[in-house]
Order: sequence, then structure tokens, then C-alpha cells
Amino acid sequence: KFEKIPTHIYETSQTASKAVAQEIAGLIRERAKEGRMAVLGLATGSTPTRMYEELVRMHKEEGLSFANVITFNLDEYFPIQPDSLQSYVRFMHEYLLDHIDIKPENIHIPDGTLKREDVSKFCSDYEMKIKSVGGIDIQILGIGRTGHIGFNEPGSSNRSTTRLITLDHITRIDAASDFFAEENVPRRAITMGVGTILQSKKIFLMAWGEGKSNVVKRTVEGDISESVPATYLQNHPNVEVILDQAAAAQLT
Ligand code: F6R
Repeated sequence: KFEKIPTHIYETSQTASKAVAQEIAGLIRERAKEGRMAVLGLATGSTPTRMYEELVRMHKEEGLSFANVITFNLDEYFPIQPDSLQSYVRFMHEYLLDHIDIKPENIHIPDGTLKREDVSKFCSDYEMKIKSVGGIDIQILGIGRTGHIGFNEPGSSNRSTTRLITLDHITRIDAASDFFAEENVPRRAITMGVGTILQSKKIFLMAWGEGKSNVVKRTVEGDISESVPATYLQNHPNVEVILDQAAAAQLT
């Protein structure tokens, strides 16, 4: 084994998603007993949808309450309207937020409607808000084929913070079907930085399917490099890579 990050391989993405949902539910319940908030860093995209489904199920069937939960999403396209089909605000409401008892004031998602000149103030406020609630307890990540986490594309610094970035060409190709054509994919996005992500107390990076197997191998077994930003996770003391069989297929 050549793993530089602890890796757990599950039979299916379904069982893997349930395991991560259990970890989140465990944190929320433990904090609720102590009368404290749980702070979650959340991702969008196809990877976490089953995990959100499981959290919604636990809310409805097991009484898991999100009244003590604060969320910070990783990223949002820029510019984008929150009610547009591809917006991450809309995504989060559809898959999770509209189905649980989270307080609206505890939800944070980067704002795709800002004026360009207001973005950097928004980004530094986002960082301050995360710090003011004690930091992110559990950060959920997917991974892009470019090796991005959040939208920290190749070239991102390991100390980067929340900021406006330019999306990689490959990322825009991968998003083209959501936007019905590549030319409709926004060129930019607001994302938490690598440094922001690395401040989280616990990180789960999830990846499913053969299409992710190469970038997973480079992340878990390769050298740390800005050309695969996910490799920066090798320096985090409490991160787990959660895979299905297909995503793990190229691991040594
Ligand atoms: C989404 C995000 C991205 C995605 C990644 C994988 O909030 O931060 O890093 O996690 O692009 O996307 P999917 O899951 O659609 O393959």
C-alpha cells in the first residue's frame, strides 16, 4: 500500500454515503447533548447527493434535528442567480435544506449575485464568519477530474482563502451538460480556499466511479503538488478518502 491519506473503500457509493451521513449525524447529536452547534462544510455536485438523501431520511424517520447546525458551502458559480437551475443555492435547497429543520440564518452559501467590486469584501467576511463560529467541524469534499477541491483548480496555493477564481477548461467541459452547452458555463466561481478547507477539524473526501479513479490515485499516492490541489490534503491530520470500488480501481 502506498496511501498517503487514509482511504476507506466501500462496496458501493450507497453504503459509503450512509457511513459518512452517520458520522455527521453522530457529531450533530453529540453537540446537541452538550447544547452546542455543529458546523458543517458542504459540497454540491453528483457525489454527495445520496449522503444528503440519507440525512433527510434520518431527519424524517429518526428525528435527527438540524436546529443546532450551521452550514458553509464550498462554492458557487459567478455570476449566477440563486433560482437558476444550476445554482448551488438551488441545489442545496433541493437536496437538503428544504427538507430539514435548519434555521435559515445558519445557512451560508457564496453569493453569485454580487457586484464584482463587492466580491472581495464578501470573501473576507465569509472567512470571518467561519472563524467566528469556531471553524468547520466536518468538511465534505468531492473531487474534480482536474484534482480540484471546492473550485481550487490546479495552480491554487495551499494557503489560499475564499476568493473569486477562473474555472479550468476541463471543469467547464464537465459542467457543460448541466448548462446545456459549454459556452453557458460561467467562467468564474467563488470558492473557499485550500487554506480554508485545511482549517477544518475533520475532512471526508468522497469519490465514486471509474471516471474519478485516476485523480484519486494521484491524490492518494502522488506527491503533493499545486497541479493536483487535492494532494494538499496529505498534510491534514484528520482526513479520510471515501471510495467505491470503481473509484479505488487504480490504487496500488
Ligand atoms: C462542488 C465542488 C466540486 C465538486 C467536484 C466533483 O461544491 O466543490 O469540487 O465536488 O467538481 O463534482 P461531482 O460530484 O459532480 O463529480
